[in-house]
Amino acid sequence: MEERIGQLGTEARGRIEGAADAEALKTIERELLGKQGVLAEVLASIPGLEPAERPLVGRLANELKCELLGSLAARREALDQERLATDRACDDFDPTLPARRAVRGSLHPITRVRRKVEDVFTSMGYSILEGPQVELDYYNFQALNIPADHPAREMQDTFYCTGGGNLVMRTHTSPVQVRTMERAEPPYRVVSVGRVFRKEEQDATHDHTFHQVEGLVVGEDVTAGHLIGTLRALLARLFGRELDTRLRPGYFPFVEPGFELDVRCPFCEDGCRVCSRTTWIEFCGLGMVHPRVFAASDVDAERYTGFAFGFGLDRLTMMLLGIDDVRHFMAGDLRFLEQF
Ligand code: DAH
Repeated sequence: MEERIGQLGTEARGRIEGAADAEALKTIERELLGKQGVLAEVLASIPGLEPAERPLVGRLANELKCELLGSLAARREALDQERLATDRACDDFDPTLPARRAVRGSLHPITRVRRKVEDVFTSMGYSILEGPQVELDYYNFQALNIPADHPAREMQDTFYCTGGGNLVMRTHTSPVQVRTMERAEPPYRVVSVGRVFRKEEQDATHDHTFHQVEGLVVGEDVTAGHLIGTLRALLARLFGRELDTRLRPGYFPFVEPGFELDVRCPFCEDGCRVCSRTTWIEFCGLGMVHPRVFAASDVDAERYTGFAFGFGLDRLTMMLLGIDDVRHFMAGDLRFLEQF
């Protein structure tokens, strides 16, 4: 056996020295040291040897293994150097050429603004929650005081899933309100940002898939004043200065009273394309949580009050980054995406 190991060593040294390239070296390594390699075979035969012979054979085999690992590494390094030298010797090798630039990805504009919005709310003590995009009819409509025959369903026509289970592609992020209230006792301050879907004709300002930001605050003595102050603070942080706002009555079945908040166009004094020449931009739906919504999720409406608001992230992103067509967001066109 000792002889056989000696022979193996001589043979292996010759093969390693003679390897023509890295590929050949890999094959040799596998045949010598691999799981099915010759050295493994030697080691496997040890239990069948005379007890006196075993330690010596084991030691020799392991020594050979270490030696071969060393020579393999040395030969690999030598081959690398040879290849480099050949490359350098060739006529068109120009070490002064700039390196090829790695292609860097970038954040989607919606993601950038989403993070900005989430940062502002986190700094105000809100938690960021996520809700499912395929939602139960119950959370998307019924628990938000929109029963099956309610006309508000027309305004938010969606894709209903077949096959039972009463699933819909959520039409807004408001279902997160109910999911939050069901889960825990107030107080809470939460924001949820995500994709929503509607059966909608596409044009420069409408798409079937878009993004909303939903906010919910419930506690003792939460007022509409807190609500308006919060949204004004958000706008100031996003646009870098205080913007005028105005409040109009608005109808949403899950809030009472309900409002719409408009913001004074940050881009003009007397009307421009962004504000359709009105100097006001519709920004947000908002209101005080409706007692029926509290009831649906077992929140004590005698003890707690709450506000909720919801606004579109796409339109806000268009305003903040100067983008003129929502359809860019979902088109996946790199020429658009690489600009951010
Ligand atoms: N979910 C509403 C929509 O998609 C927006 C909204 C309005 C959300 C008023 C609210 C709210 O939380 O209070 O049109």
